[in-house]
Amino acid sequence: MSNHALENASQALKNARCAMAFTGAGISVESGIPPFRGPGGVWSKYDPEKFEKGYFKRHPDEVWPLLKEIFFDMLEKAKPNPAHIALAQLESEGKLAGVVTQNIDSLHKEAGSSVVHEYHGSTRRMQCMSCRTFFDSHSIPLDKLPPACPACGGLLKPDFIFFGEGIPTDVHRAATDLAKQSDVCLIVGTGGQVMPAGRIPYIVKNRGGTIIEINLHDTDYSYTTSDYFLQGKAGDMTPRLARLAMA
Ligand code: APR
Repeated sequence: MSNHALENASQALKNARCAMAFTGAGISVESGIPPFRGPGGVWSKYDPEKFEKGYFKRHPDEVWPLLKEIFFDMLEKAKPNPAHIALAQLESEGKLAGVVTQNIDSLHKEAGSSVVHEYHGSTRRMQCMSCRTFFDSHSIPLDKLPPACPACGGLLKPDFIFFGEGIPTDVHRAATDLAKQSDVCLIVGTGGQVMPAGRIPYIVKNRGGTIIEINLHDTDYSYTTSDYFLQGKAGDMTPRLARLAMA
């Protein structure tokens, strides 16, 4: 990737009227969280069918140990990496209006970003499928699985989107409103293969906006949508872009 592209992309970000970021699993890989697709991806080890809402309801005893292993155990150790921190700095410098993330790891909030639309929810809460009560995940012990609702004994489900679930209207509306207001979208660490989340950058593009993409590899966005494709690790490229845009 030429420095020329990085320089030009940073100018586009610097001069944006309203810039947003759209992130996926690739931004958290350097925090120790594996991606879903690609080498070593979660879906190369676990069957995504098991994370379909109906399957989970029918087989909670089978799925909950997988949920703990994939989403809760590793999250204990994960910390924001320089990419998350760079986006938080851009926001505090007034250069980024907000982040729409597909990630459920809360690392954007932990890094200090305040406008974060968690399009697929997060692991921070669980909800009882019987009495609908929400609980802070830290208050629910995972030594006995499936965890029982403290209020009614019902089945608890993590508050993130399973396959076959719709996106909550409030977060969908907030994310699409941000995209409609933005004239620059910085895509970091996602191939946009999952809909409707993957459509977010197109909202910016179709209104004449500029797309800057950071990814280790080229994606479906790279040749049709991205105006700047900055190939590299998120933890390296994002801070470099941010430093130039804030200079
Ligand atoms: N730096 C930058 N990009 C990276 C890095 C890295 N260090 N490592 C991997 N990537 C890129 C990959 O090239 C790929 O494009 O991150 C992307 C990861 O893709 P996915 O694993 O498919 O993650 P994501 O696009 O966020 O998945 C979307 O799918 O399974 C569902 O709900 C789940 O939110 C998830 C959604």
